[in-house]
Amino acid sequence: MHPTKSPPRERFIFLPAALIFTFAGTLTMLAATETDASTPTLQIKADQTTGKISPAFYGLMTEEINYSYEGGLYGELIRNRTFKADALPAPIKPENYAPAKYYPAKFAANVTPKFWSVINGSMVLDTNTPLNEALNVSLKLDASKASKSRPVGIANDGYWGIPIHPNTTYRVSFYAKAKSATGPLTVSLMHTASTNNQTIVATKSAGGKFEWYMGSGTNFSTATNSLKSKDTFAWRVGRMEFPIASAEVAKISKDWQKYEVTLTVSNFPANLMAGELPSKDNRLEITTTKPRSFWAKLWGKKATIWFQQVSLFAPTYQDRPNGNRTDLSQLLADARPKFLRFPGGNYVEGDYFNERFNWKQTIGPIEQRPGHRSCWGYWATDGFGLPEFLGWCQDLTMEPVLAVFAGYTLKKDYIPAGPKLEPYVQEALEEIEYVTGDASTKWGAQRIKDGYPNPFKLRYVEIGNEDWFDKSGSYDGRFAQFYDAIKAKYPELKIISTVGYEHPEAQRVHSRTPDLVDEHYYRSEEEMESQAFVYDARDRHNPTKIFVGEWATRVGSPTPNMAGALGDAAWMCGLERNADIVEMHCYAPLFVNVSDLGKGGSMQWKSDLIGYDALTSYGSPSYYAQKIFSLHQGDEVLATKAQNLPTYKWIQTGRTRNGVAQPPQTNDVTSIFYSATRDTVSGKLIVKIVNRADAPQDLKVEISGVETIAPEGQAIVLKADNRDATNSLKEPEKVIPVTETVTGIGTSFTRTYPPCSITILELKTK
Ligand code: AHR
Repeated sequence: MHPTKSPPRERFIFLPAALIFTFAGTLTMLAATETDASTPTLQIKADQTTGKISPAFYGLMTEEINYSYEGGLYGELIRNRTFKADALPAPIKPENYAPAKYYPAKFAANVTPKFWSVINGSMVLDTNTPLNEALNVSLKLDASKASKSRPVGIANDGYWGIPIHPNTTYRVSFYAKAKSATGPLTVSLMHTASTNNQTIVATKSAGGKFEWYMGSGTNFSTATNSLKSKDTFAWRVGRMEFPIASAEVAKISKDWQKYEVTLTVSNFPANLMAGELPSKDNRLEITTTKPRSFWAKLWGKKATIWFQQVSLFAPTYQDRPNGNRTDLSQLLADARPKFLRFPGGNYVEGDYFNERFNWKQTIGPIEQRPGHRSCWGYWATDGFGLPEFLGWCQDLTMEPVLAVFAGYTLKKDYIPAGPKLEPYVQEALEEIEYVTGDASTKWGAQRIKDGYPNPFKLRYVEIGNEDWFDKSGSYDGRFAQFYDAIKAKYPELKIISTVGYEHPEAQRVHSRTPDLVDEHYYRSEEEMESQAFVYDARDRHNPTKIFVGEWATRVGSPTPNMAGALGDAAWMCGLERNADIVEMHCYAPLFVNVSDLGKGGSMQWKSDLIGYDALTSYGSPSYYAQKIFSLHQGDEVLATKAQNLPTYKWIQTGRTRNGVAQPPQTNDVTSIFYSATRDTVSGKLIVKIVNRADAPQDLKVEISGVETIAPEGQAIVLKADNRDATNSLKEPEKVIPVTETVTGIGTSFTRTYPPCSITILELKTK
């Protein structure tokens, strides 16, 4: 539909330096004050609210990108647990694709599985001995040569390491079957001590103990530990391995069976030096020393063991089975997000029809989930599937915002509206039933079976993702078909179009009135700041609300620096001021595994809110900006007016128009940003001030419409010495907010805001 034309609050792209009005057009302007004509001033009219902030204002968004789930939030510690990372790409065009049909992955012959290594024996992928239809490949290990002194087995180093903490119990499970082999199998967590590429030598001392030394050349003077002669250990140049915890599976069957053991790591595991744990320099090994029965050996039979779904979990957040990593969950919980937009992003679409997020293949027992190739270039086991997205919502008390596949993929394949699209519409209806249905419904009952007894409260459904890329013009029709079917069955649901008003009129949905449109903004700091007032200029009479479903200031890699946080804070002030039309928003992407930042490594998209490796994690300055905005939000937006705000010059280069390079353009961009809200429960006024300049800046705040403001208030300040300052694994808390008491507050007060700072003032009105 066309947004109804009405006088916008203000129309500009770049901010006028001297005067900024941020009232709805119908509101009365504030009376002129006696403020000096040049003093930067923010006037707040506390008796004039311009909108309510939706209770679901701040949310989360990410997808299977940057090893966000696999090797990230999802608690699985084994990389390529189902050996399907070698599946051959097999794109299917929509005309050859039957949505309800299962297309098993195919594999090349004689491949050794990625991310696995063999110990002494030999291994290969085997498509002739599948566990089941979904996991249609297995790892085949020839263990014939195993002996007590030369165990044979398989090993996995996890996602750039396996995190091991002392005093912790780990759960290992795997499927195995054997031919002419019986076991036992030893399951071990091995610590691989780093020797900084020095050579290791071991000698037997007089007391019968092995002593090991590290060094190079002839300098092996330092004995760093001693081992008992019974201890197993192995060494190579640069690496030495010790078992930290082991358990035995006594016997393996000739048929597929699931085996489970727990491994408890003690406070100070044998052979480890103090301070070696927690560590990520560990791996999981499954080995055998006695593979064959006496008779099998006598008859010269090969001892073969097959494995599938080898899994290792540390304790998860809130102990959820198949649940999430605790430190990452806690970082998120600390910022109190209200909703989760899932499963994507591009991830809902996939590159091809057979690589979309096919939700029905991501539910049920994890060994029945085939997995699929993520559009970000790696295999997703779908252990983190639709039920786990819901579990994540439950863990963090977030509302689900469900995006459904809408018949369009990243490689621009699509099915136009009509009968051929209908199966996908039905899939979406069933997916909604899975989320919201009770035990009397087919898919609600399935969710209950999957471990989630209570229906989830669902209010928002998004049709596709970024369909402005679809230049065929099919989105309007596709949207309408989904919209009509969903509204007919679930009239209370709000339906989101993926084409927002930041895109040309012609691409938007016209045949129906979307309840919301999803707008995406990935920008530089200067762009974010120059567009921070863009929503103040939007039409207030349009019944369609805004969902800013992806936004980020993309400065800093892998995670944003202070410049990113400043751009974000300027932008969030704009979202808050305009909460009457912006119903919700979420930063994206949320996560990045920072272990391997080279090409083809752990990052596909730079500037992500939270960074981590296998062991530790940190929030970027942008994370902290978001957190303090979320925790100090308020629920009513107050009318504000700014005068004489300082500006900076931004020379914008690299612009093109219709493919033609444009000359550099100089823009005046404001360098102070603001928003004012009220928390109606406490009565407090919350004033947010962002100073993006490299110098301190004064701002006078004048508050009308309240009798008094207490002289003492609270300030939450996020600042840094310079805009390049950032957090990292090494310095996770270099830039974090501090809370301080502020005095000298009243209905009119002037404060100096530090360079590169975000300040939230909480002011008492009683
Ligand atoms: O957040 C990363 C990607 O950016 C999302 O998958 C897509 O929707 C957007 O283009």
